[in-house]
Amino acid sequence: MIRYGIVGVGYFGAELGRIMQEQNDTAITAVYDPENGEKIAAELKCAACKSLADLVERPDVDCVIVATPNYLHKEPVIEAAKHGKHVFCEKPIALSYSDCDEMVKACEKYGVVFMAGHVMNFFHGVREAKRIINKGVIGKVLYCHSARNGWEDVQESISWKKIRAKSGGHLYHHIHELDCVQFIMGGTPETAYMTGGNVAHCGEAFGDEDDMLFVNLKFSDNRYAVLEWGSAFHWPEHYVLIQGTKGAIKIDMLNAGCTLKVDGKESHFLLHESKEEDDDRTRIYHSTEMDGAIQYGKPGKKPPMWLHGIMVNEMKYLNEIMHGAQASDEFKPLLTGEAARAAIATADACTISIKENRVVKLSEIIHK
Ligand SMILES: NC(=O)c1ccc[n+]([C@@H]2O[C@H](COP(=O)([O-])OP(=O)(O)OC[C@H]3O[C@@H](n4cnc5c(N)ncnc54)[C@H](O)[C@@H]3O)[C@@H](O)[C@H]2O)c1
Repeated sequence: MIRYGIVGVGYFGAELGRIMQEQNDTAITAVYDPENGEKIAAELKCAACKSLADLVERPDVDCVIVATPNYLHKEPVIEAAKHGKHVFCEKPIALSYSDCDEMVKACEKYGVVFMAGHVMNFFHGVREAKRIINKGVIGKVLYCHSARNGWEDVQESISWKKIRAKSGGHLYHHIHELDCVQFIMGGTPETAYMTGGNVAHCGEAFGDEDDMLFVNLKFSDNRYAVLEWGSAFHWPEHYVLIQGTKGAIKIDMLNAGCTLKVDGKESHFLLHESKEEDDDRTRIYHSTEMDGAIQYGKPGKKPPMWLHGIMVNEMKYLNEIMHGAQASDEFKPLLTGEAARAAIATADACTISIKENRVVKLSEIIHK
């Protein structure tokens, strides 16, 4: 039996708890959340702790799931590690390389697993794309292009997810595509350059994040990536396109599904676990449920079918690791915080780049 405690039980933390409770040999024993803790503890039939210390000190917690807002991940991760608890932390694990580094080193020091909630790694389509690439079907990967663009309308209230100091803005909050590209390219780029700004969402009705970001990455051995994010695009796009010397793969999140193109022929595979999940995601993107192009959750809201499906995959995987399963090579950097830290290293390089209007070397960020 593995016993889990959850810090932060809003939209995501509560659902991770519901899902984890249904896995083999698990129990949710405690939650801590000053706003929503009591309510979710009653639902999950566990203790509602009065403080973070109360939760991490409990002997009946083996693993702590951290799902607080992004800027509040570091303390619970380090406190959990210090108390010998394994950690699962939602993305982005932190909003600077130095914070990530402290978290990774603390988990290393105390010998605990530090899994990052980079859910894209659990998409059926992403795993299949990596298998295809590893078999050499599209040759050497030369270029990746990702876009995660939509239009943000005025919202009822301004979510912490739109406030740069709390979420990091699109670049950090939507770290998924950068992490995915770095997994495909085999690590961080040599240099990063970013342009963009807040072009259409200034003023009291909006947060302060940039609504258009364009990232240019140069990897070793003449390989490149361009990534776009933003909420100032009336033509929505959401995909990762991978171009190789022999073929290409498109992982499409908007018209959900994946395409392999080799020798002029196209073949298709699923993005998620079933056609039903893919179709449901496509329907959401093409309907008014987009919530300002961003589909942000908030406490009390339930994730859509496709997201629920990958959260199940992710929690199942975490639980297997907790029960002693060996990590595959592919997932090892996901279980130490290293892949998550590497993605934030590039995000930090981009942040310096836009501020100083120059190309930034990753070696300026990553200190050995
Ligand atoms: N992987 C994904 O696709 C995905 C999707 C949504 C959210 N997330 C991540 O999950 C995390 C939580 O996001 P959310 O959508 O659930 O936000 P949310 O606002 O719905 O929930 C956050 C919860 O944390 C609680 N909280 C705030 N400060 C706290 C503290 N100091 N200690 C304990 N609890 C505290 C709040 O009361 C709230 O209940 C974020 O890091 C977010 O990036 C990931």
